[in-house]
Amino acid sequence: MSDKKATLKIDGMDAAIELPIYSGTLGPDVVDVGSLTGKGMFTYDPGFVSTAACESQITYIDGGQGVLLHRGYPIDQLAEQSDYLETCFLLLYGELPTRAEKEEFVRTVHNHTMVHEQIRTFFNGFRRDAHPMAIMCGVVGALSAFYHDSLEISEERDRQVAAFRLIAKMPTLAAMSYKFSIGQPFMYPDNTLSYAENFLHMMFGNPCEPSTISPVLAKAMDRIFLLHADHEQNASTSTVRLAGSSGANPFACIAAGIAALWGPSHGGANEAVLKMLEEIGDVSRIDEFVARAKDKDDPFRLMGFGHRVYKNFDPRAKVMKEAADDVLAELGIENDPLLAIAKRLEEIALHDEYFIEKKLYPNVDFYSGIILKAIGIPTSMFTVIFAVGRTVGWIAHWHEMISGSYRIGRPRQLYTGHQQRDYVPLDKR
Ligand code: ACO
Repeated sequence: MSDKKATLKIDGMDAAIELPIYSGTLGPDVVDVGSLTGKGMFTYDPGFVSTAACESQITYIDGGQGVLLHRGYPIDQLAEQSDYLETCFLLLYGELPTRAEKEEFVRTVHNHTMVHEQIRTFFNGFRRDAHPMAIMCGVVGALSAFYHDSLEISEERDRQVAAFRLIAKMPTLAAMSYKFSIGQPFMYPDNTLSYAENFLHMMFGNPCEPSTISPVLAKAMDRIFLLHADHEQNASTSTVRLAGSSGANPFACIAAGIAALWGPSHGGANEAVLKMLEEIGDVSRIDEFVARAKDKDDPFRLMGFGHRVYKNFDPRAKVMKEAADDVLAELGIENDPLLAIAKRLEEIALHDEYFIEKKLYPNVDFYSGIILKAIGIPTSMFTVIFAVGRTVGWIAHWHEMISGSYRIGRPRQLYTGHQQRDYVPLDKR
């Protein structure tokens, strides 16, 4: 916090309004506009472009410099030296765990991987062709019907149990939503495996033979979870905070986050990238699609390019690109036609004046889609995997909010509808 103040002079108002300015440890100062409502005025900022909706100590982003820090640690260092569950601990508790703390944390997550047996029956209510994200919205929200014993959000113990349950059960539910869609039996988790290995086992294993999991692919999967673990106050995290601010239970809040993530402007972009590459179909058609992306009258956008915050480069994309190169080399599939389109597209967009001027760079979803395809994950599961990784970020933000002081989120509006008018009876209209 600082002693700085902003002075707002409003036409027609004699006295200027003084607004306090706060400074964080990093990033721009913020002007506290909370007192404006008492002066009969609101601020107007659709899309929250200039609005800090909360105070947080979890993640810091400098979009101009391409910096992403979790609890102060740069994302590239975490991606190189840490692993997903350790990063979960860091996000939740604020510090890297000691060896003993890490072992205990991993053991506790493993103890919660199984889901209530009745949930298997719950799946049968969905159509086989349901999108896995639709299933996830429903099933994760329904967890509150199965785990009544951890819903007292004012209790630290309940919040912790709900956090472990969500982190541990998300891969199980995600794999179940896939198995259901292809008509294969659900696989129980194998708690001797790591988090990422277990997910691949439940996705690709079957009860008739032992699972074989490539360590390279498990490492890539773990890195994908880690790179998606948190991203400050994005649309889905803000949704979780808003839902949580009403006192809703954590399972309901995370289901709200999953719903917000599904959109193609957010987590749905990785699926949209692959669909776009398929639609382009051949390297020879790239110019046509780039021209469409630049045409103001055409709603088409290059999926996997651009970001609300990163206007230099997406630091996650840099690590993800390296991981993509490793996976493709390991699997020997450098000659895949869709990958050829992706590489050429990236090259063209990085050198095209339109994309340079608007600071549109490939984002994390551009490369994660490529890796997931190479691993053999079906396109419809891409956003589900994003949701699995992001669950810890959602919970960390929800927990930070609930354990501090907060008020119900209640944005205001600029009303441009009718003024008051009298009801007209049906026979007079
Ligand atoms: N292709 C072509 N033009 C684009 C693209 C794109 N992918 N992204 C933005 N632009 C253009 C816009 O048309 C706009 O042009 P204008 O100034 O001439 O009107 C300008 O760049 C600014 O775009 P906005 O939509 O105002 O930027 P905003 O910050 O609101 O949107 C977003 C960011 C949603 C990510 C956008 O870049 C986009 O739609 N990208 C494609 C979808 C995508 O990859 N989403 C994943 C985001 S990352 C994540 O969720 C993990």
